[in-house]
Amino acid sequence: MSSLWILAICLLQWHYCATATNCSGWKRILSASDRAFHSPNVTTTCSDVNKCVIACHRTGFSESLTFHIETNTCMCYDVDRSNDTLYTFVPQLGTLFYSKNSKTESQNSVIAVTYNSVTKTPCLELLDSGHTKDGIYEMTTETGVVFNVLCNMTAGGWTILQHRVNNTEVFSRTYQNYVDGFGSLHGEFWLGLEFMYIMTRQPRSVKFDLLKDTNVWLLLQYSSFTIDDSAAYYKLHVSGHVASAGMCTYTFTYNDGMEFYAKDRDRSSCATNRKGGWWFQGCTWLNINGGYGVRNSMATMGEYCSGYNYFTETVMSIR
Ligand SMILES: *[C@@H]1O[C@H](CO)[C@@H](O)[C@H](O)[C@H]1NC(C)=O
Ligand SMILES: *[C@@H]1O[C@H](CO)[C@@H](O)[C@H](O)[C@H]1NC(C)=O
Ligand SMILES: *[C@@H]1O[C@H](CO)[C@@H](O)[C@H](O)[C@H]1NC(C)=O
Ligand SMILES: *[C@@H]1O[C@H](CO)[C@@H](O)[C@H](O)[C@H]1NC(C)=O
Ligand SMILES: *[C@@H]1O[C@H](CO)[C@@H](O)[C@H](O)[C@H]1NC(C)=O
Repeated sequence: MSSLWILAICLLQWHYCATATNCSGWKRILSASDRAFHSPNVTTTCSDVNKCVIACHRTGFSESLTFHIETNTCMCYDVDRSNDTLYTFVPQLGTLFYSKNSKTESQNSVIAVTYNSVTKTPCLELLDSGHTKDGIYEMTTETGVVFNVLCNMTAGGWTILQHRVNNTEVFSRTYQNYVDGFGSLHGEFWLGLEFMYIMTRQPRSVKFDLLKDTNVWLLLQYSSFTIDDSAAYYKLHVSGHVASAGMCTYTFTYNDGMEFYAKDRDRSSCATNRKGGWWFQGCTWLNINGGYGVRNSMATMGEYCSGYNYFTETVMSIR
């Protein structure tokens, strides 16, 4: 291609931007996630996303677009699809999604989906829709609550509520902290009681994967887990022991029917002495939010119905 020809194309593109349509006002609302839309009105190939913007303007299908950064595929749409639900997305790595009209700009690098909080837990719903990658997904519930979840798809679509692995996060925290959640989904975290409430509108399976010392994984699983709302202080309902390895079966059901407590909303000083929030009764056998690395004490991040078990990693998840 001669440089004169390239110059002509550039001028033509400049023309389209400057006069025929307005190239500004586009917002990148999702990036580098593995999502793309079905059914574009026009598909073409462009060397970069700016050319794709121009191309879409030229075709008249210019409300939103996706651009695939590896295949240079440019797809144009005549509607703003920024609010589309899960079912209009197809998994495709490295797509950028731009929208002309979207009011809210975000630079997510995660898959964002709308999810029905009543029917399933988020990660199971995602897995059943073909998302098989472990990782973080942004969920919007049918009532508009937005939150991120960490999914273990390899293990079968489990939504992770709590993870501790290297003592980088403080767990001796206030009640409100436990309601809102804290920490990082990339490291240690507590997802938050309000989100747990939203996700347990139906009884869910709950399991604990617990690394004892450095080499033995213990397991505890129940078939029915729900918590009440904030007015009931997120009261716990757990039943239906399914499996356990190296643990007593009642380690968590012991706490059934209890409200959630933390050091500033304590019950018999349990949260203060055990160094974390929990559905304390008097106080608890299982203390996954307790003091990391604490030894020979009920304050340990561990379990003690069968003698002390010290954990170095804990994962609490629902499905
Ligand atoms: C282009 O669109 C942006 C945002 O919608 C607007 O602020 C700007 O004035 C427009 N420019 C022209 C030349 O119409
Ligand atoms: C653009 O594509 C959408 C989705 O396939 C379709 O509903 C719409 O009718 C198309 N618009 C035109 C003008 O063809
Ligand atoms: C997308 O949803 C938001 C929040 O409900 C709304 O404010 C916005 O207008 C919607 N955008 C489109 C293009 O429908
Ligand atoms: C998923 O769960 C399996 C089995 O418990 C575990 O081996 C794996 O490390 C987990 N993966 C992630 C990303 O949490
Ligand atoms: C703690 O663990 C997380 C998750 O494995 C990791 O991303 C982080 O870098 C670790 N931090 C330290 C200080 O080891």
